[in-house]
Amino acid sequence: MNIFVTGGAGFIGSNFIHYMLDKYPNYKIINYDLLTYAGNLENLKDVEDNPNYVFVKGDITNRELIDHIVKTHNIDVIVNFAAESHVDRSITQPDVFVKTNVLGTQVLLDVAKENKIEKFVQISTDEVYGTLGETGYFTEETPLASNSPYSSSKAGADLLVRAYHETYGMNVNITRCSNNYGPYQFPEKLIPLMVTNAMEGKELPIYGDGKNVRDWLHVKDHSSAVDLVIHKGKPGEVYNIGGHNERTNNEIVHLIVEKLGAPKSLIKYVEDRLGHDRRYAIDPTKIMTELGWKPEYTFDTGIEETIQWYIQNQDWWKNIKNGSYIEYYEKLYGDK
Ligand code: NAD
Ligand code: DAU
Repeated sequence: MNIFVTGGAGFIGSNFIHYMLDKYPNYKIINYDLLTYAGNLENLKDVEDNPNYVFVKGDITNRELIDHIVKTHNIDVIVNFAAESHVDRSITQPDVFVKTNVLGTQVLLDVAKENKIEKFVQISTDEVYGTLGETGYFTEETPLASNSPYSSSKAGADLLVRAYHETYGMNVNITRCSNNYGPYQFPEKLIPLMVTNAMEGKELPIYGDGKNVRDWLHVKDHSSAVDLVIHKGKPGEVYNIGGHNERTNNEIVHLIVEKLGAPKSLIKYVEDRLGHDRRYAIDPTKIMTELGWKPEYTFDTGIEETIQWYIQNQDWWKNIKNGSYIEYYEKLYGDK
């Protein structure tokens, strides 16, 4: 199988490429990525000489280039991970989210249609469902009610994917996963930001009262779910992905502080995120019963392994924090 993976130089895409190259020695992976601030080829250094792996730098809004690559490599499946992915950035700069997440997805769908690609898998998010109260879960039937420019751009993309199935009969799937954690996550997201700041003795900024709940899944378990959807997903279906690991942000930050032996005084409550969703929680019954997916990690083992990874790979995140990322970081939190 020849798989066109977009956004493969980012956090989840690079973990997925590692997973697939390990598991399928006969598959070819074409990684198509624009290398924005979040794309980092260091994430894939160990596979760059693998004959089954090809990297192409490009934008998912560039129809001609994508069409050329899809034809050249005889692509069977497109998996679209490429996106602007950070909610805070979408609040200050929504336009690029619409361009990449909505227009980029439509361009990919068009190229897939023209080239009669066998399957198109859209990597979406639980955030398209909006926010939950203290009880209940997101199912595939929960209405879309996105609240941030990021999640709304992802919801727009999901509706286009649905439209290409309904209108043109394309074989598509949409996956909606909860919050991922694991190696190679860009240190603007909660877990790597708190782990690396704690190691550097910097402040740990918790938004609002810290009681917002996220449902955490190890990125390798997300990869195994996407693998199953590629091979067994039924045309036009949506699959929610999550492992029932709900934690408040307060719990996450305190756990990290404890595990690293950092002083609690680093924790600082800061102004809340605008439109901050209170709680996400996935009901993964459909993918578990229909496709036989089962997560491998418990949160306890996953977070322990992840913290160790950031301890052992300090060059990786220090290079990011010392580079262009720092400007953004300082604008948000000041020079702390
Ligand atoms: P990320 O920000 O780490 O990586 C995104 C990648 O997309 C980067 O490599 C970037 O260079 C690339 N990219 C951005 N714009 C592009 C463009 N115009 N053309 C080509 N490439 C472009 O994101 P992530 O956390 O790995 O998320 C990957 C996907 O999974 C996204 O679609 C996101 O919405 C979805 N998702 C993320 C999570 C999570 O917890 N991180 C959970 C559920 C779903
Ligand atoms: O639910 C899936 C989504 O998870 C993905 O679609 C997004 O791409 C991904 O970024 C993530 O979105 P969140 O907004 O949930 O993740 P983030 O790591 O930005 O924040 C997690 C929680 O932590 C959220 O409630 C905001 C809070 N937070 C975050 C940061 C960066 C803080 O309290 N302080 C912080 O400094």
